[in-house]
Amino acid sequence: MQLGNLIKNRWVRKFIGYIIGAAIMIAVTYKAGFPPLFILVFNMYAFACFIFYIIIDLPPIKMLMGLRAFIYFAILIALSAGFYTGVAAILPQFDPEVEMGEFRKPPVKLSALSGPEAIKAGEGVFKMQKCSNCHKFKDMGTSMRGPNFDLWQIGLSDEEFLKKSIVDPRAEVPKGFEDEKSKTAMPTYFGEEISEDELGALIAYLKTGWSKEAMPVTGKEDAGPMVRWDEDPDMIALGKKVFEGNLYSGLNCGGCHGRDGVPLMEGARDLRNPDSVSKRPGREGKKLKDWTDADWFDSVSKGLPETAMMPWLEQYPPRAIWLAIVYAKGFSKGKK
Ligand code: HEC
Ligand code: HEC
Repeated sequence: MQLGNLIKNRWVRKFIGYIIGAAIMIAVTYKAGFPPLFILVFNMYAFACFIFYIIIDLPPIKMLMGLRAFIYFAILIALSAGFYTGVAAILPQFDPEVEMGEFRKPPVKLSALSGPEAIKAGEGVFKMQKCSNCHKFKDMGTSMRGPNFDLWQIGLSDEEFLKKSIVDPRAEVPKGFEDEKSKTAMPTYFGEEISEDELGALIAYLKTGWSKEAMPVTGKEDAGPMVRWDEDPDMIALGKKVFEGNLYSGLNCGGCHGRDGVPLMEGARDLRNPDSVSKRPGREGKKLKDWTDADWFDSVSKGLPETAMMPWLEQYPPRAIWLAIVYAKGFSKGKK
């Protein structure tokens, strides 16, 4: 047969049409990013439609009667049922067990996790529970409604405090959130929603949120200025406790630097003197009055080698360091 005649044949034309259609569909679904399995399933449907189209176009068969008609009918049913079941058996099926498994994902087992893994799991809990709808943290989410955890440095809070704040948010009202709306904004169901292990992971994650660079602040973002810890009378009072050795056992700045700033220990720095210079490597000679928040943290957290001024951060939490600084800064305040 000539090529021209071949193309004129209506069966051949239909087949070519089908091939072109299938090719277009593969191209479009591939471009749209469908998984290969979907593309295959789509094509199988298209092929089934093509067969159907061919069948309805076939010349009609003779009218059948009696037993013959019955046998033909039974064969047709058996064939199509067999085809349908066969194809269904080959294709991957929706398995309710697998889907339910997703819901019943093994709960976070903190006991089986450590350090970075617990933190990672905690990040998952934070996202899952949509905390970021109200709390900005690690530059994620918004803090239109709740405290901004980056600025507040939520990681400086004690674990017990964090736990209580999450499980029983009405117990205490943080600064700047005293209005009726804010006071009642945080949901009270987290105690039931979050398992004990998930809560542990969540807290491990929150605990990573603190900075060596900037003095923590409190208050509501966009609702007036935030208050630095060293300008907040409550935090200064708390800092006094730390400085005088009444909050963290064994940490007593006043024991050497003096409760009133008059050094008790020979050689201890006089924190009242704004012109006293740092001996920290890299910042030698920088006058105390010019220290940034980060400079203060550097001095107090790392101390001075071979002196009684210890690297306090090795033994005490960053919260203790910032609180001690809040009070220590007061001795030279206003002195030029
Ligand atoms: C619908 C908004 C909203 C959601 C969601 C929300 N919070 Fe809060 N959260 C607030 C508000 C408002 C406050 C301040 C008032 C208060 O303590 O109830 C707050 C306070 C807190 C505090 C106390 C901060 C401090 O220093 O006093 C913590 C901790 C906290 N939220 C953690 C979380 C965590 C973790 C989640 C997710 C499991 C979460 N929040 C979900 C609105 C929210
Ligand atoms: C055991 C005694 C002791 C304790 C406790 C102590 N210091 Fe000191 N600190 C010193 C001595 C001694 C120096 C000075 C060392 C020198 O100049 O060679 C010093 C130096 C410093 C300096 C100057 C660092 C620099 O950059 O040169 C600061 C600031 C300071 N202390 C703050 C604190 C604070 C805040 C605390 C409490 C968290 C504290 N110190 C606890 C003994 C102590």
